[in-house]
Amino acid sequence: MENKKWSEDSQEIRKRALIMNWQEFSVMGEKDKTVFLNNIETDNPFHVLFSQQFDRRSLDLLCQVAEKARMIHKDRVEGRKFLKSLLFGTYALNFFHQPSTRTFLSFQTAQEVLGMGIRDIRDPSTSSEAKGETLEDSIRTFSSYFDLIIMRHENEQAAELGAWVLNKSDRRIPIINAGSGKDQHPTQALTDVYTLYKSFDGKIDGRTIVMVGDLARGRTVRSLSYLMKNYRGMKLIFVSPLHLRVSDDIRSFFDRHQISYREADNLREVIPVADAIYMTRVQDEWDQKDQGEPIPGQVKIHQPINPKYKFKKEYLDLMKENAVLMHPLPKRDEIDEEVGYSSDKRVVFWRQERNGMWMRVALIATIFQKENEILNWQ
Ligand code: NCD
Repeated sequence: MENKKWSEDSQEIRKRALIMNWQEFSVMGEKDKTVFLNNIETDNPFHVLFSQQFDRRSLDLLCQVAEKARMIHKDRVEGRKFLKSLLFGTYALNFFHQPSTRTFLSFQTAQEVLGMGIRDIRDPSTSSEAKGETLEDSIRTFSSYFDLIIMRHENEQAAELGAWVLNKSDRRIPIINAGSGKDQHPTQALTDVYTLYKSFDGKIDGRTIVMVGDLARGRTVRSLSYLMKNYRGMKLIFVSPLHLRVSDDIRSFFDRHQISYREADNLREVIPVADAIYMTRVQDEWDQKDQGEPIPGQVKIHQPINPKYKFKKEYLDLMKENAVLMHPLPKRDEIDEEVGYSSDKRVVFWRQERNGMWMRVALIATIFQKENEILNWQ
């Protein structure tokens, strides 16, 4: 059944995209790429590469599915058995080329909740990449054994290249971007939106979000910023050192979508107006010049954060009663350590972490078109 939402134009773009070469495909705009990446019947993302693939309907759906899956899982026998039956007999590969704790573990656990078989590659020196195999051929090989690929890579276009390869192959399996260089981390942004959804009883519209830290290289900030266009009347405030300011492409996206944003230099001053404060760490793995290559086995010494961009314990007193303090994690010294141990309900980053697992359950289930089975379970 062809979905009416897919105009003839979209179908034409999709047909063209299927025969395009990589060079032609890679320079298409996000809107046209989405036609190639989303499921033609449901209009939900099939390959998940960037935040612009999501609209309000798909975001609301994912939050509802995450909520329901979480509830079902509380039924320890029948509920868990049901969830496990959904993707029983399918297999996932977690292909992580960069370090990861939360994203890796939450994907893995989400796959287990859904009954999938799981394998991973975390060290490229153990795979044929080390023998000079191209990424295209490696991805094509993965698709011979698996039904889903999760991929984290330092190269911004690697997951996209994977999607392009898979779409042309006779085993068109979905690929999910679990972090692409400095560019995007869409499943973290979904986690963040779900955390806002839970924190504000589903009412995200009109909130003021303060984003703090490395806004230039933090891919979570970029992906979350793109999702903001799906909510009405959002106000964004960016707090960062000058050299880590939010980049021009994000600014022009906000201008195009009439999203209100401003920059501030003083975190303390903007805390009282914030509904959510989204802290991030300095992504200093990218500035090789003052870091040099780390010595194997030795822990890298990080520069201490400029106190202007640090969330101090006493700032909790300045927060609105219902505001939340978020962080995609890992955190370093940009948040006073004591805040992490505080029992203040507004400190939500540990809950945010767990939300990520449920959001990934919802996302994978939806890619495999199991969302209605979850929503209708009783
Ligand atoms: C983030 C990432 O990898 O981009 N971590 C995560 O997935 N939650 C944030 C970071 O590394 O700073």
